[in-house]
Amino acid sequence: MKKILALILSLAMLTAMAMSLASCAEEESVDVGIVLPTKEEPRWLQDETSFKEALDKAGFTSEVLFSQGKSDVELSNVEALLEKNIKVLVICAQDATAAGAAVNKAQAAGVKVVCYDRLITGTEAVDYYVTFNSFSVGVAQGQYLIDAYKDKTGVPLYIYSGAVTDNNAFIFFAGAWSVLNKAVADGQFVIQNCPDIAEYVGKELDPEKDHEVLANILGKITTNWDFATAKTLAEANLVDADAAAKGDVAILAPNDGTARAIADAFSADAAVTSYVITGQDAEMASLKYIQDGKQSMTVWKDTATLATSTCDLVNALLKDETPKAVATYNNQAKDVPSTEVAVTVVDKDKLAELIAAGTFEQAKIDSAK
Ligand code: BGC
Repeated sequence: MKKILALILSLAMLTAMAMSLASCAEEESVDVGIVLPTKEEPRWLQDETSFKEALDKAGFTSEVLFSQGKSDVELSNVEALLEKNIKVLVICAQDATAAGAAVNKAQAAGVKVVCYDRLITGTEAVDYYVTFNSFSVGVAQGQYLIDAYKDKTGVPLYIYSGAVTDNNAFIFFAGAWSVLNKAVADGQFVIQNCPDIAEYVGKELDPEKDHEVLANILGKITTNWDFATAKTLAEANLVDADAAAKGDVAILAPNDGTARAIADAFSADAAVTSYVITGQDAEMASLKYIQDGKQSMTVWKDTATLATSTCDLVNALLKDETPKAVATYNNQAKDVPSTEVAVTVVDKDKLAELIAAGTFEQAKIDSAK
């Protein structure tokens, strides 16, 4: 009798364990897996918040993982999400080419792949690309410098780029160069820190067709999206510059984090009397720099809009519909259908308007580090 009771008890325990394992597996199943580059830049934390809100609202389960600047972490993040049976992978690549291995695995597992903000290159395993209009980000930065020094000639211009492993860095720079090349040809600006670009003055560079030329130029002026690298490079450029290359200067900085680092280097040089510097992302710390007159502008890319646009796309992909595309981007393996979200230039005046409208909170700007 005792034996039978013990048997019944262990069977009951086994059933309970099996049931809890099954419910765990159910809990572990996630609709949308999201992989973002790093937690160290406020930009990607904005995206995380926007995603969580948009996907929750749309009724999808999701999980966000960060690659912390490493392609091997990115790959293991994708593998972990595939284990959770995701149906769609939304990925913002750490490195445009290295990420190919991760998305090839996802596609082989039947998962739809959406490149988010940064295009993954050299693979066909990419279904869609959701992005801001990155070319227009660069145009806005270049045009801002041109307008700030209207009617001036011979203004020293320092140019910096993002990471060469990020396809966007090519697009931002080509956008800025599409307007700056003429201003340099007309004598408004004199580039101080990139002899390699001299032969392209008066010519536009295409981010896809002129990829190799751009890779060489960007390699000479890259911040690698890293604040310390940006500051060291700017300081080295200032050591090389003579008095004529200082005074009132213009600086093309690719994003907010690098803009603050470069601005700090230029403000520390007594021979620089004033500077106009660009940025992008509307990070709180840069909005503070703009209010304090230490950064001239930023290009605001509303991550809430991009996350909502991604949600619509996920919805369509899960229903096996063909999502609408407004553009295509060639990733060196195929033309990837894409959406393009518009961007907004924010300078001191525009920022005051946006704060008054409740878009940005003064308290958050004040407490930014
Ligand atoms: C993004 C920018 C960001 C940069 C550095 C780019 O791909 O588009 O918004 O500032 O990466 O993370």
